[in-house]
Amino acid sequence: MSNSADTSLQTTPSLKRTFQNDFMIGAALNTQQIMERDTNASRLVAQQFNAVTPENVMKAMIIHPQWNTYNFEWADKLIEYGKKNNLQINGHTLIWHSQMPAFARRLQSTDSFRLFFTDHITTVASRYRDKVYSWDVVNEALNEDGTMRRSPFFTKLGEDYVTEAFRLTQAAAPNTQLYYNDYNNERPAKRAGCIALINKIKAAGVRIDGVGIQGHWQVGKVPLKDIEESILQYSALGLKLAFTELDIEVLPRNFQGADVGQRMKADPSLNPYTSGLPDDVQQQLASDYEALFQLFLKHRDKIERVTFWGVNDGASWLNDWPVRGRTNYPLLFDRAFNPKPAFYKVIATRKGVYQ
Ligand code: XIL
Repeated sequence: MSNSADTSLQTTPSLKRTFQNDFMIGAALNTQQIMERDTNASRLVAQQFNAVTPENVMKAMIIHPQWNTYNFEWADKLIEYGKKNNLQINGHTLIWHSQMPAFARRLQSTDSFRLFFTDHITTVASRYRDKVYSWDVVNEALNEDGTMRRSPFFTKLGEDYVTEAFRLTQAAAPNTQLYYNDYNNERPAKRAGCIALINKIKAAGVRIDGVGIQGHWQVGKVPLKDIEESILQYSALGLKLAFTELDIEVLPRNFQGADVGQRMKADPSLNPYTSGLPDDVQQQLASDYEALFQLFLKHRDKIERVTFWGVNDGASWLNDWPVRGRTNYPLLFDRAFNPKPAFYKVIATRKGVYQ
């Protein structure tokens, strides 16, 4: 890293300080970053963020690779890193149909699948009891039309598995904030399904504290109206809101949402900005982020946390999804870890907001 980049980092405003009276500002960390092998990222995290989410290391495939075998090494390291840097940790995620361990996918009997489900939640949630601030207890249980996704959890355990997951997590980690997390759950049909799901959990007398809206959006198409309506409707249920995986993609694709199982074939026409982002797109990205943070600030009393899905453009999952090997620009910091125009627009939204 050059001296000039060093200097610019020291004089850069800080997201976490700018929004300290509003909501936490988080970033997703990959394994290299958790192991502190990426010094540029470590420096930026310490300066800019007060919350982190593990991008992968707490997912079942990694933390629970075999029946009766857990791999806590990286997750434990994350806890230590969080403590050292004053970062709140959001556990991601206990129950999700993607990135499941192969052994669990192969389980045939309902009894053994239920045993996996119960043991997984209880073991992981109790190990990190009082160490993680919140859990994404269940991730992506819904279809786009608001019906329940036919996941292995649904087909083997029935639709009450979501309530059951919250019940088990609550028992294992009574002081942790419990969230339901999904993508596109700001859109009307999926939102209605999400509200019905939340009401079921509550009707069973089980605690749920908040809703996570992932926030994988596309440049020029951020659904601000739906987002605002969702903030109002979810908070009317007494729940907190978190924007848990924010990024704004600038590259073309032919579908919306963030189903990690959905992919497109690589093609040069799908990777137009390998040598830099054109200025008009850069400006559009900046004004999208500006409008989004204006909305977040308007509802800052309802929003607990805004987490970016990655520290900087170079580390974004959108370089490899839904098409592998692209050059994407979805975050506030560029590949050299320098703040982009969108960063300064976001910082500027805070000016003039009454304390
Ligand atoms: C992504 C990670 O960023 C990738 O590294 C991994 O290969 C696939 O999963 N919604 C979620 C996240 O809830 O867990 C996903 O993370 C992105 C979409």
